[in-house]
Amino acid sequence: MAIERASFPNPWHETTFRGEIQNEGISFPLVASEPTERRVVGYIIFWRIQDEIQINNIAVHPDFRGLGIGEAILREVLDKVRAEGAVFASLEVRVSNGPARALYEKFGFEIIGSRKDYYVNPAEDALVLGLNL
Ligand SMILES: CC(C)(COP(=O)(O)OP(=O)(O)OC[C@H]1O[C@@H](n2cnc3c(N)ncnc32)[C@H](O)[C@@H]1OP(=O)(O)O)[C@@H](O)C(=O)NCCC(=O)NCCS
Repeated sequence: MAIERASFPNPWHETTFRGEIQNEGISFPLVASEPTERRVVGYIIFWRIQDEIQINNIAVHPDFRGLGIGEAILREVLDKVRAEGAVFASLEVRVSNGPARALYEKFGFEIIGSRKDYYVNPAEDALVLGLNL
């Protein structure tokens, strides 16, 4: 929750995280932890429905950004689901979120749509990105 609150103007509520964790078979959370005290430093949560995945959340603790952790957890997920037969990945991102957009571009995600005023505080459009796996 500390990472979530430090990462987003509209953080997910704890009940949302609990719901995701309990939504077994659909929702898959993965965390990155630092090696000494095993504290969580980042996480990614995706849904898998048949042969498609949707990445619903990804964040890295501000003190641990720029170290390759976001890329590592995203790669872990994409490699795993690709090996299991998934064919398509999608996600939404704020238009102004340069770091996240650069990360997704690095993996080959492309803009496949947009959602007007999808985000609040501040209001902003979402870009829908997709990647053929
Ligand atoms: C987006 C986020 C998860 C990236 O995690 P990270 O661990 O800092 O990223 P990495 O160190 O693995 O960087 C991987 C790539 O992302 C891009 N990137 C990361 N930080 C960047 C920055 N500040 N500016 C531009 N590009 C950046 C680069 O392409 C980078 O590759 P490079 O090092 O070869 O240039 C992190 O910035 C974050 O938690 N942001 C807040 C939450 C958020 O916006 N999540 C996405 C919601 S859609």
